[in-house]
Amino acid sequence: MSNHEEFYDNPDVRAKYIARRTQSDNPNDTLERPIFLELAGNLNQLDIIDLGCGDASFGKEALLQGARSYIGIEASSAMIDLALATLTNTSGKVYHERLETWKAQSEQADLVASRLAFQYVENLEPVFREAYQALRPGGRMILSVEHPVITSNFTSLAEGHRTTWLVDDYFKPGARSHQWLGHAVTKYHRTLEEYFDLIRMTGFKLEHIRESCPQPQNFSSQKEYERRMRIPLFLFLSARQAIHASPTRDRT
Ligand SMILES: C[S@@+](CC[C@H](N)C(=O)[O-])C[C@H]1O[C@@H](n2cnc3c(N)ncnc32)[C@H](O)[C@@H]1O
Repeated sequence: MSNHEEFYDNPDVRAKYIARRTQSDNPNDTLERPIFLELAGNLNQLDIIDLGCGDASFGKEALLQGARSYIGIEASSAMIDLALATLTNTSGKVYHERLETWKAQSEQADLVASRLAFQYVENLEPVFREAYQALRPGGRMILSVEHPVITSNFTSLAEGHRTTWLVDDYFKPGARSHQWLGHAVTKYHRTLEEYFDLIRMTGFKLEHIRESCPQPQNFSSQKEYERRMRIPLFLFLSARQAIHASPTRDRT
């Protein structure tokens, strides 16, 4: 069993994760969600694939907004259970699969989304190539990840509620193990340049970069807003499938 499956399948982690996601001014709702949805824009009539979908709450939201279809890909069986519950009475589907082994059907989607999952994947290039194949010409991949200044070094997280952030070993990409939600987890650090190169080398055209700049109206606490003004938590990239087919794999 790989690291992230052990991590998210642990009942203690799952309980803490859900508690964190529902607490007031949590970073997902104040920082990640508003920018991701802004980048995604109108979801009406889109076929969507969500890589590392977690509880698939994006799927429910997208289908309510008129998305034509939603498929979530998720490695953790605990998260699959949550996703199936979220998608009850919708047309949304989830597949229990690792991103590393996921094989897309060619030109099946208008949008490949991935929210805060790619920092768990050691080798992203094949995943980006698969996403490219999955998209129709002109389709988009929109991703959010923990920001490289955060993944560079987790030492200050060990102190609990962060008041200082240490950026260190920035130009040393690779695994970073640390304690999160009371348990060890491994994430993979990449520089901004590496994300950009991955986008370009897999055939995508980068359209937008965002860095989770906080908006005061998304916070109930001024103090928390000020704290989030100090450092970017998340990085967002929005990229378009360049109209020509990728040369890397024959379309079926
Ligand atoms: C921080 S959660 C985010 C969940 C969801 N995208 C959201 O934003 O609410 C990261 C998710 O990615 C999944 N994940 C991590 N690595 C994965 C992999 N290699 N293959 C599939 N899913 C993975 C985890 O199991 C977890 O559900």
